Amino acid sequence: MRLPANFTLIRLDEVGSTNAEALRRAAEGAAAGTVVWAGRQTVGRGRRGRLWVSPPGNLYCSIVLRPSRAPAAQISYVAAVALAEALEPWAAPASVRLKWPNDVLLHGGKVSGILLEGGADHVVLGTGVNVATHPADETRALRPTSLAAEGAEATVEAVLESYLDHLAAWVNRWEANGFAPVREAWLGRAVGLGEPIEVRLPRETIPGRFTGLDDDGVLLLATEGGTRRFAAGDVFVLTGEGAHAAHH
Ligand code: BTN
Repeated sequence: MRLPANFTLIRLDEVGSTNAEALRRAAEGAAAGTVVWAGRQTVGRGRRGRLWVSPPGNLYCSIVLRPSRAPAAQISYVAAVALAEALEPWAAPASVRLKWPNDVLLHGGKVSGILLEGGADHVVLGTGVNVATHPADETRALRPTSLAAEGAEATVEAVLESYLDHLAAWVNRWEANGFAPVREAWLGRAVGLGEPIEVRLPRETIPGRFTGLDDDGVLLLATEGGTRRFAAGDVFVLTGEGAHAAHH
């Protein structure tokens, strides 16, 4: 497989979680650009303590980064933009969109998940892409989908190769030029921009209009009481593409 300069690939058939494995290796000194790629995971980690069901056929990878720029949390936008671009060869124009903070949507369904985890001097960027299969809809707030289900015939290897290419380019751009180009690219693909959304926190749901991101990547929500800013939470888009029934 072709890799960008300074990337090294560690290919495993099965692992608990590629994020856990990459964090362990990073703590032991693994270089930036170390990519842990597994064929399946037994305890894949999702955001907010959720499980990421990880059968064979999909992409599960975690990349060790040692960013020279802060805040490292911006890498989740860097990764989302890179992944959106990476999927374009297999998708219809404008069918790949982004939902705050880092969900990549294909035809409005969630096709991937990004989980950034940090150590003292390194971060691990975990990415799952549903290439062949996706979990059942069940109670999920956002309809899951896969490349295959949307009619895209891609191999896991080709998706990883494309992702690493775009990621290397976007990490360099972010380190050299800061968040502004990332923000612009992210907003250019965002669902719900200028529209009514709900931000859900563990104990509160706040309705408002999604007006954009600030210079650091904080979500701006125009509410009746004025503009509120969110660094974390789940966004529910209420209209247009990416809209879905909220469940209670
Ligand atoms: C989400 O909840 O949307 C984020 C899911 C992140 C899943 C990926 S799969 C590869 C990496 N290893 C993990 O354990 N999780 C991430």
